[in-house]
Amino acid sequence: MKDFPKYLLNRVGLPNSHTLATYRAEGGYRAIEDVLKKPWTSEQVIGVMKDSLLRGRGGAGFPTGMKWSFMPDITKDPRPRYLAVNADESEPGTCKDRVLMERDPHGLIEGCLIACFAMRAKAAYIYVRGEYRLSYNRLQAAIDEAREAGLVGQHILGTDFSCDIWMHKGAGAYICGEETGLMESLEGKRGHPRPKPPFPAGSGLWKSPTTVNNVESIFNAPFIVRNGAEWFKSMGVPKSTGNFLLGISGHVNKPGVYELPFGLTARQIIDEVALGVWKGRKLKAFFPGGSSTGLLPASMADVVMDHDSVKAAGSMFGTAAMIVLDETASIPQVMDVTARFYDHESCGQCSQCREGTQWLHQIFRRIAHGKGQMSDLDLLVSLSNGMAPAKTICALADAAAIPTLAAVKHFRHEFEECIRLGRDPLRNESKHAPRLHEAHA
Ligand SMILES: Cc1cc2nc3c(=O)[nH]c(=O)nc-3n(C[C@H](O)[C@H](O)[C@H](O)COP(=O)(O)O)c2cc1C
Ligand code: SF4
Repeated sequence: MKDFPKYLLNRVGLPNSHTLATYRAEGGYRAIEDVLKKPWTSEQVIGVMKDSLLRGRGGAGFPTGMKWSFMPDITKDPRPRYLAVNADESEPGTCKDRVLMERDPHGLIEGCLIACFAMRAKAAYIYVRGEYRLSYNRLQAAIDEAREAGLVGQHILGTDFSCDIWMHKGAGAYICGEETGLMESLEGKRGHPRPKPPFPAGSGLWKSPTTVNNVESIFNAPFIVRNGAEWFKSMGVPKSTGNFLLGISGHVNKPGVYELPFGLTARQIIDEVALGVWKGRKLKAFFPGGSSTGLLPASMADVVMDHDSVKAAGSMFGTAAMIVLDETASIPQVMDVTARFYDHESCGQCSQCREGTQWLHQIFRRIAHGKGQMSDLDLLVSLSNGMAPAKTICALADAAAIPTLAAVKHFRHEFEECIRLGRDPLRNESKHAPRLHEAHA
């Protein structure tokens, strides 16, 4: 593959990359220093973020600078305002934010300071998935180090800018990664998403203006401030700029987290980055951006991995968490497992989601176990159409419905075969590690 400039993971391999000493030796905290000492105005910081065309890395690909500009004018609305960093990372397949938090926590802290300066926020809350103990501990240690060095807290670097950063641990609920569920949880309540409007910029944490951003989105801010919007736009494709972190898992020879430019095809990523499908097998299908993005068949692997191209192919770029399935994978079983996840994680507030996720799971389960009927396939489609698009308080219902519609569209023949035979011909226990309930049976 052609060489390309990298920046996101440059510090990750360095000794003690999580410490202030290493971060500073690599030019860390110079972006916030420049912003405070030059000084930049908040509008200038938002301007460069907007010009960079950075799209949020939390799944929806919404432009980050534009999101920051939605915060109300402080001269007209003096309420305290907040940044909430979404480090919940619970979507199956997604594992990229963890690398940044464990190996380069000061990069995220500097990003928080820049974002808070731009939006005039008095504090940032980092909501970390509870299972990520090392991420939590490294971030907390980095915040403590930064506070000690006058980089977090009151009068940062001797200026008028004050900003605190607080950590919060999640308790294992996927729904707490949804931005309003996250805010409810941060406020100490059950993580039930809130209806929108009001949007977080108008009424977020404690009814104050709030912006919720993904870890990787915030991590990009110091690079953009230091190097400029043109530098950022020189990477990627016109509407998806900069580099992104790909998390690739499943049936590949070299799964992992990689920094890549937008514009490679899914096939190039699987073959050249992850060194091909394992065991010399053929590719059957892949989720391009996590389990909530529509499954695509191998025949569509020439899709270019950027937000708009993947959307045009009928799926989503999501969190760039590519899950690869080889020719021996059973799509009915993959969907059984996927639907079980969404059924388990639905918060139950909306009937379409509460009932729909349960029905999708039951139907996929009976098909995968050879007990389905042909009419089940139309039932899956009509149930999914009742759940999405945007028919519920949050997008978890969509996250269950979208992969269902894609699986039935692209792999109807596989479901039909299971139904006709009364068993799944691809079910072969020896190729899978046993599932927990099977291991104990
Ligand atoms: C059910 C559900 C779970 C989500 N989980 C996450 C998550 O773990 N991390 C994340 O950044 N965004 C997650 N999101 C998206 C957030 O709601 C929000 O759009 C994102 O944090 C915004 O960040 P960005 O603009 O920087 O991309 C989730 C959305 C839904 C519907
Ligand atoms: S869509 Fe599902 S997860 Fe989201 S609020 Fe409604 S019931 Fe809860």
